[in-house]
Amino acid sequence: MDVSLRPVKKKDIETIYSWRNRPEIREMMFDSRPISLEDHRAFWKKVLDDKTAMSFIITYGKEPVGVVRLEKNGNLYEVDIFLDPSAQGKGIGSEALRLAVEAAKGMGIRKLVAKIKKGNAASHKAFLKNNFKERYLYYERDVL
Ligand SMILES: CC(C)(COP(=O)(O)OP(=O)(O)OC[C@H]1O[C@@H](n2cnc3c(N)ncnc32)[C@H](O)[C@@H]1OP(=O)(O)O)[C@@H](O)C(=O)NCCC(=O)NCCS
Repeated sequence: MDVSLRPVKKKDIETIYSWRNRPEIREMMFDSRPISLEDHRAFWKKVLDDKTAMSFIITYGKEPVGVVRLEKNGNLYEVDIFLDPSAQGKGIGSEALRLAVEAAKGMGIRKLVAKIKKGNAASHKAFLKNNFKERYLYYERDVL
């Protein structure tokens, strides 16, 4: 499968934005609200300036189809991944995760975690296939 990862560059930020606000992607995020282009740019400026973080564009053939980020959180790195909806369900996400785990190994990262919404079957399966283990339940309630 012709999937590879390359570092995110500044010029990719608009492409990522074109995926980021798609309802199919937002629905699977913990904060499902759309984000403005201004906030998106500010977020990615911080990510690209953060020398402890690693972000990759996922390519399929030569086409950019998604993004996977490894973000330091204490002793762990959190994985966040999303694909353009038209690229989902073809095995690309599972392969991109495998490559991200390899990249993490190469960076000397000891542990990866991911928070996955209940009902996100594709994500759940893609992580399990890559030897992530289901360990925690996460609860929330609206207060107001
Ligand atoms: C999660 C995501 C990265 C997975 O990548 P993907 O390329 O779509 O997934 P894959 O094609 O590799 O499929 C992984 C597994 O899920 C299954 N699957 C795929 N789409 C599915 C769906 N809509 N419902 C149920 N299972 C599904 C596949 O059959 C496969 O299982 P199998 O190996 O047992 O056959 C991608 O779907 C995505 O970007 N989703 C929206 C954002 C998101 O949820 N991000 C995760 C937050 S951490």
